[in-house]
Amino acid sequence: MQTNRSRQLYERAQGSITAGVHSNSRSRAPHPLYFSRADGAAVWDVDGNRYIDLGMGNGAVMLGHNHPAIREAVAAAMAVGMSTGFETESGVHAAELFKRLVPSAERVRFTNTGTEAMLHALHIARAYTSRQAIAKVEGAYHGWFDSVYISTWPPLDQAGPDDAPVALPGTAGLMTSAIQDAVILPFNDSLSTERIVRSRGKDLAAIIVEPTLIDAGFIPAEREYLLTLRRLADEMGALLIFDELLTGFRLARGGAQEKFSVQADLATFGKAIGNGFPIAAVAGRERIMQASAPGPGRAAYVGTFNGHAVMMAIVEASLGQLADGNVTRQLQSRTEALIEEFQALARRHGVPAQMQGGGGHIHWYFTPEPVRNYRQAARGSRERYAAFITALADAGFLVSPNYLMHHAISLAHGPAELDQLVAAMDKGLAAAKQAAQTKE
Ligand SMILES: Cc1ncc(COP(=O)(O)O)c(C=O)c1O
Repeated sequence: MQTNRSRQLYERAQGSITAGVHSNSRSRAPHPLYFSRADGAAVWDVDGNRYIDLGMGNGAVMLGHNHPAIREAVAAAMAVGMSTGFETESGVHAAELFKRLVPSAERVRFTNTGTEAMLHALHIARAYTSRQAIAKVEGAYHGWFDSVYISTWPPLDQAGPDDAPVALPGTAGLMTSAIQDAVILPFNDSLSTERIVRSRGKDLAAIIVEPTLIDAGFIPAEREYLLTLRRLADEMGALLIFDELLTGFRLARGGAQEKFSVQADLATFGKAIGNGFPIAAVAGRERIMQASAPGPGRAAYVGTFNGHAVMMAIVEASLGQLADGNVTRQLQSRTEALIEEFQALARRHGVPAQMQGGGGHIHWYFTPEPVRNYRQAARGSRERYAAFITALADAGFLVSPNYLMHHAISLAHGPAELDQLVAAMDKGLAAAKQAAQTKE
């Protein structure tokens, strides 16, 4: 594949953009790719190369790129000239629709990004409980602000014992007080989690969990673990917060809360509600959400772009597509079919590997056993993964070379794209087997 124009743009971009990219996660060797068009399951780069997208906007684009319902909603909202700074009828409709679909969403407020949604959820939790500390799961990503960019993808040689992970900054520049106030939990390990939570229980404002660790590939929560967190939060007087940025509308129409029948006090959403546009939400119990209504001693909720008129129209349109649950069901059955094909291929190739996924989110681990937590994921074979993902790229798929970066299909990934993916996974497994033999 010839990518000269991307290379030239990269050279030029470095003169005006730090590292030539607006998100570090888009850096790649030998240079980032620059894109000019997207439609359905496909994207085209500036050199005219066509890819089948398996990134889908970090899992945000659930219906497919350039979906007509979203395009029309944007055009109609633009036509009346509204941008931001006003409450609109569409904002009320979007909230009502959201409330109907999401369990525990007695009230909802729209923000712009998942990072802001979690930031606001934590302000509410601290205001409501008058406490400071936040417990989060090792290997979980909840955005890039101080309280949560901790122990996101920690190096295992610094992360402490499996049953007592230490809090490690995920980036330079964090406030050290945030690290002191962070309590790190081992995913799907109820016994150790209970011990850790009890040791800091009375300081905890909130326990946050992504109820399937998708930013470490796809690691399902065990229901018993979520029930343990629910019980511990209640006993300790902390709030239980679900980060449903990626699980929302995917694991079930009503997200993880519906799938696992476990309700959070607050939950954050984004991605699917905007099908690729910057919009997110905080939702939860009325008495708790009230902690950010105007008034003394309450958490602030302000922001120029909150509830932006065009975004509200997009939320209405996206949720309109998701409301009958059909999209979620279709994505689930396509995902299950892919997993079945992959596991049969892996057995045939004699490669110890797991494809894990749900609701269109997919990932591959080169481990002998199914992956239950971040550490198991981090210990998988990186050589095999690199060989596998390179084979997918060679077959025309847009994939991330970053180990543990999740992938996704959308409603627009139909039989042709999925058959192509099965053929590419077959080649990828052959390459992964070869990679291991070369290394041995
Ligand atoms: C689970 C989860 N939480 C939070 C975020 C942060 O959302 P945003 O990138 O919109 O700030 C992400 C983004 O990838 C995410 O996957």
